[in-house]
Order: sequence, then structure tokens, then C-alpha cells
Amino acid sequence: MKNMAPFKTFVFRELSVEEMRRRAAEFADELHRRRSIRQFSPRHVPRVIIEEVVRAAGSAPSGANLQPWRFVVIGESEVKRRIREAAEGEERKFYGGRAPEKWLKALSPLGTNANKPFLEEAPWLIVVFAVMYGLNQRGDIEKHYYVKESVGIAVGILLTAIHQVGLCALPYTPHRMRFLNTILQRPNNEKPFVIIPVGYPATDAVVPNIYRKPLEEITQFL
Ligand SMILES: Cc1cc2nc3c(=O)[nH]c(=O)nc-3n(C[C@H](O)[C@H](O)[C@H](O)COP(=O)(O)O)c2cc1C
Repeated sequence: MKNMAPFKTFVFRELSVEEMRRRAAEFADELHRRRSIRQFSPRHVPRVIIEEVVRAAGSAPSGANLQPWRFVVIGESEVKRRIREAAEGEERKFYGGRAPEKWLKALSPLGTNANKPFLEEAPWLIVVFAVMYGLNQRGDIEKHYYVKESVGIAVGILLTAIHQVGLCALPYTPHRMRFLNTILQRPNNEKPFVIIPVGYPATDAVVPNIYRKPLEEITQFL
């Protein structure tokens, strides 16, 4: 990183309007086929695919280019088992009284409960941490900017990349996730953001029949 020129020429690849129109429609259609999957096949997914989708996520823009993310990728069964055990412990508390009625009502169309077998079934788990602040060599705190926004964008790219390569994923967020720091031995400045199981869907996987707001409802052109 040292001795890098401060600026370089930006190489822009211009497309015709026709090509843009085609790509825009194809991309939107493709992304509308993405669904969160909660039943996975144990089928093997090569590690290089996971490396590439994480590399895609690492291209995300971030506040002051501080890239405040850490992706911990887990393929080991024993680590997945420990994550499932801890997550289901949190979920039992959540579904067993901690969650307000309204929240449970909002979740009911998804048919979720405290059991999270996908944490062991999926061949890979990607646990994303938000690096809330940096620590320099003297141990002083260095501020990070727009951490949640930056990590949210990186996760969006990650989910898009996973779909694009023909795999499935679920953004999974147990109510409390600090157990991940303990199991994965991550320091306190890294806050668990989301757990993403990745793999092929089970052959009998089902998804809730959800409604997507149409363009007119989510946009305003002035
Ligand atoms: C930030 C975030 C957290 C989520 N947490 C959970 C979760 O803890 N458990 C779960 O089953 N789904 C979770 N989801 C998945 C949503 O329920 C799902 O994205 C939504 O129902 C739309 O369905 P789709 O992803 O198939 O389009 C989460 C999604 C997001 C974006």
C-alpha cells in the first residue's frame, strides 16, 4: 500500500443505451428470483466459490474506505454445531418470552421457530462482523465512519454474488449474537452483523409466498 500514486486514471467501459436497457432488465429479473432459503442440501460447494463471493463483497464502498468488515467462513462441522447450539439457546429465549407479540406476529408468515438446522446443514456459514472501531499499534481507538451502512452494502453485494453464482443463502440474525465472538475468537471491536448459511437448497425446500412492493410504491421521481 505504501508508495502508491495518490490518483490514477479511471477506466470507464461505456455501454450503449440499448445494452444498458437490456442489462438493467435482465439484472432486475435475475435478482427477483433470489429467495432466502432455510432448508439446505449438505452437497459440497468448493471453497474457491466462497472465496470469490467474499472477494466480490470486499469491493463494496465504505465510509472513508475503511472497509470495516470481517468475513469468517466456517466449513468445519464442529464449529457449525457450536454455533447452532448457541443460536438455538438464544432463539428459545426469544420465542419463549423475550420477543414482543408484535414481532412474533410479523415473523409468523415466515414459519420460523427456535430450531435452526440450516446452521449445520449448509456446507458453509459466512459470519460477517462489523468492525466498529480500529485499534492502532499503540492500542488507541481509531474511529470508523458509517460502519452499519458500509457493512450492509457489503452484505448486499455478498448475497447478490451468491445468487449470481447459482447458490442460495439466508441472512440470519439471532436476537443476540455476541456468542459468535467467543466461538470464533473475534475481538470486542468486531460486532456480529449477520450469519449467512450458503449452499444448494434441499430438494424439497419451500419458501414463503411473499409480496414484493411494485416499483411505483418504492420510488418517487421528481
Ligand atoms: C437484516 C436481515 C435479517 C434477517 N434475519 C432473519 C432471521 O433471523 N431469520 C430468518 O429466517 N430470516 C431472516 N431474514 C430473511 C428475511 O426474512 C427475508 O429476507 C424476507 O422475508 C424476504 O424474503 P426473501 O429474502 O426470500 O426475499 C433476514 C433478512 C435481513 C435482510
